[in-house]
Amino acid sequence: MVRPDNDNPNLNFEIIQLPVSDWRKYKSLRLEALKTDQQAFAKTYDDEATYPDEKWIERIERTKSGDAWMYFAKDTDTDELVGMIGGYRDEENRAKHSAQIWGVYVHPSRRGKGLSSLLMSRILTEFEKNEDIAKAVLEVNVDQPSAMKLYEKFGFSVINRFTCTLGDGKKHEVCIMEKELKR
Ligand SMILES: CC(C)(COP(=O)(O)OP(=O)(O)OC[C@H]1O[C@@H](n2cnc3c(N)ncnc32)[C@H](O)[C@@H]1OP(=O)(O)O)[C@@H](O)C(=O)NCCC(=O)NCCS
Repeated sequence: MVRPDNDNPNLNFEIIQLPVSDWRKYKSLRLEALKTDQQAFAKTYDDEATYPDEKWIERIERTKSGDAWMYFAKDTDTDELVGMIGGYRDEENRAKHSAQIWGVYVHPSRRGKGLSSLLMSRILTEFEKNEDIAKAVLEVNVDQPSAMKLYEKFGFSVINRFTCTLGDGKKHEVCIMEKELKR
């Protein structure tokens, strides 16, 4: 695929984990995502804008537990966070030897430059380090073509579909996608 901005030589970024002290940067990016792409997420901006500070801090703290992950794309010229990906394992995931991916987002002005591919590669690499994780799972609105393409490119395939109300208040068809991890 050829996209006009793909070869921008000035784009410098790195994939990082955030220290807990930077939780406000994560909150700001996540709320931006929920406002910008309401149809892409199950939660709404209003759901999360009222979260207490402790909840944002706890989400980053949890990444130290080994059962939660968060990676961010940082523009090294401006120090801004411009993308993120999250993962977690709850009881159900542990029983199924899976890990759930959530919150995939890249700021509109930075899309089409490979950032989400870097974020996805990083989290899958981390999952692969855990012998108990056999597959990665995610849910995606079928009307998000860039996201569908991203996941297909990484080898995710559709295992089920359902209809639900997303952050824009409308009903959408959502796919559950799964990928076996390399061993
Ligand atoms: C989905 C999203 C994260 C992709 O981020 P991105 O950094 O632009 O993606 P990348 O540049 O790494 O591209 C990854 C793949 O996505 C697909 N893609 C990216 N931009 C695309 C576009 N404009 N049109 C079609 N496909 C596109 C391509 O398959 C691409 O791989 P390729 O360049 O090797 O062909 C971004 O569009 C986004 O934040 N969308 C809104 C939120 C969302 O839908 N999140 C998913 C929730 S499940």
